[in-house]
Amino acid sequence: MKVLVTGGLGFIGSHTVVELQNEGFEVVVVDNLSNSSKDVLKGIEAITGKQPIFEEFDLRDKQKIQDFFKKYDDVTGVIHFAASKAVGESVENPLLYYENNIGVLTYILQQLEKKGGASFIFSSSCTVYGQADALPITEDAPVKPAESPYGNTKQVGEEIIRDTCKVNSDLKAIALRYFNPIGAHPSGKIGELPLGVPQNLVPFVTQTAIGLREQLLVFGNDYPTVDGTGIRDYIHVVDLAKAHVKALQRLLDDKNESNYEVFNLGTGKGSSVLEVIQSFERVSGEKLNYKIVDRRAGDVIAAYADTQKANEVLGWKAKSTLDEALKSAWEWEKNVRA
Ligand code: UD1
Repeated sequence: MKVLVTGGLGFIGSHTVVELQNEGFEVVVVDNLSNSSKDVLKGIEAITGKQPIFEEFDLRDKQKIQDFFKKYDDVTGVIHFAASKAVGESVENPLLYYENNIGVLTYILQQLEKKGGASFIFSSSCTVYGQADALPITEDAPVKPAESPYGNTKQVGEEIIRDTCKVNSDLKAIALRYFNPIGAHPSGKIGELPLGVPQNLVPFVTQTAIGLREQLLVFGNDYPTVDGTGIRDYIHVVDLAKAHVKALQRLLDDKNESNYEVFNLGTGKGSSVLEVIQSFERVSGEKLNYKIVDRRAGDVIAAYADTQKANEVLGWKAKSTLDEALKSAWEWEKNVRA
């Protein structure tokens, strides 16, 4: 079974390629290396004994996508990770985000329509819920107005897929709404490699501990939470990767209840920023230099998943604890800087 993984050399993509290959899928990766490197292929090979087929090109080139599907006409599944994901950058350059995240999505769906259907998995985000009115967040919680063009591309992306599936019964899709993916493969061979200064908490924590950053800024301690800091649902990237294989298998086996489905992917447990810091200090044995500063614009107070649908319908459950995920992130950071 041949599967296209776009953005397959990125953080979540590379971990998913590993799990797909472990399950016997033949993987073709398309990546433009805009936020990844060819070395990731070697990491995947070191873990699975095999490199995926690799095609380096930019998916904004519609002709190249068309040529790709001619060359690989036996691709029956697509997992679409390739997208831009920096919230701040999306505010500065919205058209880049709409072109990369929306334009490309429509090109791929057009090709899948042309080939008479396929199984399609989309990387969505819990950002579609904004600050949800009730916690934990179920898939039925309303989608709130997006805070940024990035967030908007995830909402609009879901709508485009839903509308397309409505009129193409041979096209089957699942949108996976990720909570906060962290950690790295336990082998230490692949992990997260943010470009420049990390915007997300955990890479900033590990880079501070290793000495690349002076100090972690904790954005606000006056939220209405246990200790005043923001609450998120941090999920180990390997657990997340396994959910993609489950979702794809569900579609390939025709187990889906409708041809467009949505699942939350989280652990179901919320952790505050200070709890993340304490957990990190415990598993790494390092003391973290941090200080409390003002809130960051656009941050929600608390978000964690209701995992019942993913557990019962998808048959998937996150296994790793926060400690385990942070330990793997730390091992990876030490490996990369060694
Ligand atoms: C962020 C994005 C979200 C995106 C997700 C992708 C924002 C506002 N949201 O989510 O749209 O889908 O990344 O991974 O950028 N924190 C600090 N100090 C830091 C960094 C973060 O205190 O240097 C805090 C934040 O205030 C938050 C928590 O840590 O409470 C997690 O932050 P982060 O890792 O950036 O994830 P999100 O904000 O949930």
